[in-house]
Amino acid sequence: MSHRIVTLAAWAVLAYLTTAASAQTTDSKKDDGAANQSGPTIKDAYKGIFLIGAAGDLPGGYSADELDLVRQNFNIVTPENCMKPGPVHPSENTWRFERPDALVKWCAENHIAVHGHTLVWHAQTNNWFFRDGDKAVATRRLKDHISTLVGRYKGKIRGWDVVNEAIKDGGNSETAKTENLRNSPWMKALGPDYIPLAFKFAHEADPDAKLYYNDYNIEAGPKHESSMVLLRRLVKDGVPIYGVGIQGHWNTARVPYEAIDRAIADYASLGLKVSITELDVTIRGASGGQLGRGRPRGEVSPPSAEDLKAQANAYAKLFTIFLKHKSQIERVTFWGLSDRRSWRRGQHPLIFDAANHRKPAYAAIVDALQHPKPEAATPR
Ligand code: XIL
Repeated sequence: MSHRIVTLAAWAVLAYLTTAASAQTTDSKKDDGAANQSGPTIKDAYKGIFLIGAAGDLPGGYSADELDLVRQNFNIVTPENCMKPGPVHPSENTWRFERPDALVKWCAENHIAVHGHTLVWHAQTNNWFFRDGDKAVATRRLKDHISTLVGRYKGKIRGWDVVNEAIKDGGNSETAKTENLRNSPWMKALGPDYIPLAFKFAHEADPDAKLYYNDYNIEAGPKHESSMVLLRRLVKDGVPIYGVGIQGHWNTARVPYEAIDRAIADYASLGLKVSITELDVTIRGASGGQLGRGRPRGEVSPPSAEDLKAQANAYAKLFTIFLKHKSQIERVTFWGLSDRRSWRRGQHPLIFDAANHRKPAYAAIVDALQHPKPEAATPR
């Protein structure tokens, strides 16, 4: 009898250990960073809430699989480079419309909207705009550039980033009281009027286009205050501005959630819409939108399961905040298509990996609709 009890006990212990071991195996499988590849697509899940976009100079150079990925997951595209002044208008009498035309055509054929990027910027803009001319000449060149480009796609492009990154980085409590505009070539040529002028020319060329001011790091600190000073001027002067683009180049460990929450409300208080225009959340690397900054040195290591989980959590918290402000937000656009098609390649910032598979962040964003992350959207 006692022998039987011992045997039974031994079996019970063995059975427990086996179950525990297999549970552990299942758990560790769940935890290896592998993401669920099924479930609703992000654009369908967020239908009627906000547009979901990706940046890319489509369709040239993209594989059939990548184009399918765009069609399945996104309902608006931002050209990543081909409509910027440098590429599209390299010299006064040269226009390169091949890629922009192809992008607009491909998007129309696939029922995908287009957001134009960008008319006026200090970067990717050739010097001819500012050479051998006075204020009148620079104004005429600005007008010709905007009228030709916006006019060509009138009715085919939903909105434009009219002015990009006009505000200086950093700042302090003194600059926070001012617009603190960057001393860009446009600023040198025309002074602070270049901003309202650009909006006026864009509006004349396509009165229905939704016109945006777009910038990075404007959600926090003195740069946020300066953005409010600038936008208040534009609104007060009746400039045809529709919204503010918060670029959204963030880093998993340092997303300024509270500032983002407050900034969206601040812009809405001016009567402006908000879009998140260039979203990417790096796993390692810098925040901000400075060109050439935050690129990893040396070998790029693959993200760990913990990295992917932390990134998914950051994306879920962000979308919880966006959802809290859904009536103010028009669009959320990712800056690229996959971790292979990203200006921050190597920092794994997007929701598809380099092989076009959904990352854990993807399901976390869709899940934020059902299970908001409460700590991310605390009331002001
Ligand atoms: C980046 C592109 O992604 C790169 O391919 C290009 O080399 C440089 O510009 N802010 C912007 C975008 O408004 O236009 C920038 O895009 C990223 C920062």
